[in-house]
Amino acid sequence: MQAHTLRKKYAEFFASRGHTEIASASLLPENDPTVLFTTAGMHPLVPYLTGEEHPGGNRLVSCQKCLRTGDIDEVGDASHLTFFEMLGNWSLGDYFTEDSIRWSWEFLTSKEWLGLDPDRLSVTCFAGDEDAPKDEEAAAIWESLGMPRERIHFLGKEDNWWGPAGQTGPCGPDTEIFWRTTEEEPPPGCTPGSDSGCFVEIWNNVFMQYTKAADGTFRPLARKCVDTGMGLARTAAVLQGLPSVYETELYAPTMAKIAELAGDRLEERHQRVLADHLTASCMIISDGVVPSNLAAGYVLRRLIRKSVRVMRKFELEDTSITVVAETVIENYKDAYPVLEEQREHIMGVLREEEEVFGKALAKGLREFDRIAEGIEKGLQHGGSNNFPMKKAFALYDTHGLPPEVTKELAEERGYLWDQAGYDAAEKKHQEVSRADKGVFRGGLADHSEATTNLHTATHLLHQALRDVLGDHAAQKGSNITPERLRFDFSHDEKVTPEQIAEVERIVNEKIRADLPISNCEMPFEEAKNSGAIGLFGDRYGETVRVYDIGDYSKEICGGPHAPSTKVLGRFKIVKEQAASKGVRRIRAVLESAS
Ligand code: SER
Repeated sequence: MQAHTLRKKYAEFFASRGHTEIASASLLPENDPTVLFTTAGMHPLVPYLTGEEHPGGNRLVSCQKCLRTGDIDEVGDASHLTFFEMLGNWSLGDYFTEDSIRWSWEFLTSKEWLGLDPDRLSVTCFAGDEDAPKDEEAAAIWESLGMPRERIHFLGKEDNWWGPAGQTGPCGPDTEIFWRTTEEEPPPGCTPGSDSGCFVEIWNNVFMQYTKAADGTFRPLARKCVDTGMGLARTAAVLQGLPSVYETELYAPTMAKIAELAGDRLEERHQRVLADHLTASCMIISDGVVPSNLAAGYVLRRLIRKSVRVMRKFELEDTSITVVAETVIENYKDAYPVLEEQREHIMGVLREEEEVFGKALAKGLREFDRIAEGIEKGLQHGGSNNFPMKKAFALYDTHGLPPEVTKELAEERGYLWDQAGYDAAEKKHQEVSRADKGVFRGGLADHSEATTNLHTATHLLHQALRDVLGDHAAQKGSNITPERLRFDFSHDEKVTPEQIAEVERIVNEKIRADLPISNCEMPFEEAKNSGAIGLFGDRYGETVRVYDIGDYSKEICGGPHAPSTKVLGRFKIVKEQAASKGVRRIRAVLESAS
């Protein structure tokens, strides 16, 4: 069964059990300022898992685009990917452990659906600790379905517990389903969850019943939910009896293209890294990110630069990475039409970064030589031959020389490389950049009154900008903390002081008019036709929520918002600047009305 059939079957199975199919959200989280990317199917659903009503009801099914950078060092093995698609079904306070496990079993083993050999499936359940009891319930359900007790393993929090990518939020014990990759019973000690390679995890069912507070304590969730995640590529590989995800049709054409270009100069691991990184890069760019030294843009930059370096390793310095990226787009465009729509843009971004990097590499190498000279001089006076890690990080940060290159060069000359020191320097930088994320959509730091009011002010600002500058002024990003709002929008020139004053005047007029704020749900097409603005994404066929502020603003949005505009106080723009090419950024605050 091919991946696209699996996508369809999954949706069909759960639709026939009362689930509403929802479209994938953006790779950039709209509701969570604590992480850079959507890392799991549950991620865009956090507001609903914690109590908000979802327009689609209490049973949902989706195929969500995800990106994980934590696994980046595993990329190149048989199953880890940076970008991947996660199939998932959700219960928002509806069914729980029993139905969830029963349906997973039926979908996996029934001949009508995936028809996998039940003898090759094993599961893990939560072993229990001081925060939550052993999940005997899940184990008993597995047993009642025919899973022998010896193939039910109990593991601790590091394996059988799931929370969101950020630190706090909904979480709970999970049960994970593994496929045995070997025909024969594996040798003793090779169990699911061990690194033996004899088992691959294909599905994870989380029984969300706690919420983790900022102080680290676990409290019961108001309503229990189920969150499941099945890796599309991994499961497709299992269904097709393939040794790795790279042989599935999601990667095979890209791998073939790389093989064609690189001939026999090819190492498989590097070939896979290239296919993985360029797939991820195309997807990230299509969600509106460009390379930069901050946040999501920084991740994209590293993925592209690593790809360029891999190409050079294959002695392909004269071939552009776009040649490979074209195959990625061909391959994914049916599932993600946005790739075709943005083909030119994606190629342009890749090409430009490739060029910038080529130049940076030359400069970085010169700077490296200067640092090396310093070390040599020091050595003559009894100094150490440690390569300075702060400088190694600066080489990356300022000149774009990737740490792996610097390390290689340093070690060639006999200098010592202190990876922990490098990581510390990088971490420090990330902490700074996390405090001021470069790319962000609709992100609210929290749901406090101050943040919520600024969110409502953001809608007024969005409409006022369109009134003053024209309808091209569309939202490109938003980041709201209790202190201020930050809004990015498309506009080619500086906004003049007169225009700023006019925008402020309009927003304050609307605030004083005490406009009521209401919301309702409607099909996406209807919302769009009614003139609602907002970030659209791939939402066709979905029910969306539309917020009205009087009859002044109409925007597709998940909320939350103030009850009326009067509570907002006085709106003031504190800064206007360029955010990137063709995108301006406004920072604004609300001052108390008195
Ligand atoms: N959130 C869980 C995971 O990512 C299940 O969807 O594995």
